[in-house]
Amino acid sequence: MVCFVWAAAASRKSVAIAKQPEFLLRSAETPLRKTEEGGSARGRLLPRALVLRQTLATASRKGCRIFCMKAIQLEKPERFRQIEIDPPSQPGVGEALVSVQRVGICGTDYSGYLGKMPFYSYPRIPGHELGIEVAEVGEGVTNVKAGDRCSVEPYMNCQTCFACRRGSSNCCETLQVLGVHTDGGMRPQFIVPARKLHKSAKLALEQLALVETLAIGCHAVNRCQPQPKENVLVIGAGPIGLSTLEFAKLTGARMIVLDLNEQRLDFCKTKMGVDHTIVAKGDGSELEELKKITDGSLASIVIDATGSNKSMSNAVNYVSHTGKLVFVGITTAEITFSHPIMHRREMTFLASRNAVPADFARIIKLIEDGKIDTRPWITHKAKFDEVIGEFPRWLKPESGVIKAIVEVQ
Ligand SMILES: NC(=O)c1ccc[n+]([C@@H]2O[C@H](COP(=O)([O-])OP(=O)(O)OC[C@H]3O[C@@H](n4cnc5c(N)ncnc54)[C@H](O)[C@@H]3O)[C@@H](O)[C@H]2O)c1
Ligand SMILES: [Zn+2]
Ligand SMILES: [Zn+2]
Repeated sequence: MVCFVWAAAASRKSVAIAKQPEFLLRSAETPLRKTEEGGSARGRLLPRALVLRQTLATASRKGCRIFCMKAIQLEKPERFRQIEIDPPSQPGVGEALVSVQRVGICGTDYSGYLGKMPFYSYPRIPGHELGIEVAEVGEGVTNVKAGDRCSVEPYMNCQTCFACRRGSSNCCETLQVLGVHTDGGMRPQFIVPARKLHKSAKLALEQLALVETLAIGCHAVNRCQPQPKENVLVIGAGPIGLSTLEFAKLTGARMIVLDLNEQRLDFCKTKMGVDHTIVAKGDGSELEELKKITDGSLASIVIDATGSNKSMSNAVNYVSHTGKLVFVGITTAEITFSHPIMHRREMTFLASRNAVPADFARIIKLIEDGKIDTRPWITHKAKFDEVIGEFPRWLKPESGVIKAIVEVQ
């Protein structure tokens, strides 16, 4: 349990309520029956997050000073610290108070840590891949209720700009992504618009945290629409490249993966059912290999998920005539290539940013139906208190990390 309550007591009773580590610990198990001790009516089952919140609210009403939540903050590049934050207030109209259970760590978090993520601002509480439990809902919320377990769509959009009006909430003109532009889920509780919650009664909490990573790949594949047997080349076999593979696989396309890292290519073959892999040696042999695999036609869809401007500039060479090139990886550097190759082959260039609500619903259903196997994905786990120590280790390629999941509570 990551929540502590310290109380400047106004009475013995307030100390008793506010200093209830046993009560909080018990509330971290399964739903509890309301008790007199918890200060509420008898008889109904309560989710643990609500019990926790009620305990804090009671302590607060009794005049206790509460400094109660531990959060992890990236103060500046390469410097994490554990901070104490105020507990959130009541959820307002259309909002939900959520209790964070699992947080997935992704390339965006690593880039933010290294100071290489263009949209990141500091200090920041990271965490945008979230498996949560709803603690309480505000007025007018009908899509979720207390106790529901959900994945969070972490893209906070304005709902009024041109992109939002066209249904592209993923690239709102003033988009705020949790854990990137605004504080995320590396804390026990926070308030989020309820419309951003996608529930599942079947998925495990860590699977719910994985949905957002998968959504990035789902959206990238939706952007380019592979057809059965079409040659799809994915460059970069990190989590984002792997998530594109999950959805390319569902289309019946022929999958080819190119990466510098042979360990990751092995993973693609043994765990992801990829037909062909190519090692990026940087000597031109990649193009020859691709020609062999595709009978000379190259890949009619190329998805670059490296985040390397070098790879992204070079990727045009792998696209067949009339083919499509999708940039799902992100770079701050310039991408250059000579225009004739694009013109001659009449290429289509596509960007892919984040994901849309329908992607979340689709992925949850695919996992529930056993069409996506999440087992190979989660390679590392850590408790909340271990994150600061573990995080730099996950950055190293030899750690073999695909997805690290943090157990917040
Ligand atoms: N589109 C989005 O909304 C979105 C969301 C999240 C992350 N991203 C971006 O996606 C990118 C990938 O993320 P990730 O977590 O999978 O990163 P990662 O670093 O784990 O994976 C990148 C892979 O690319 C390979 N690679 C690098 N340079 C290469 C080259 N020249 N040729 C071949 N392979 C090369 C690396 O070996 C690595 O396996 C990042 O840029 C990240 O910021 C985009
Ligand atoms: Zn992510
Ligand atoms: Zn908008």
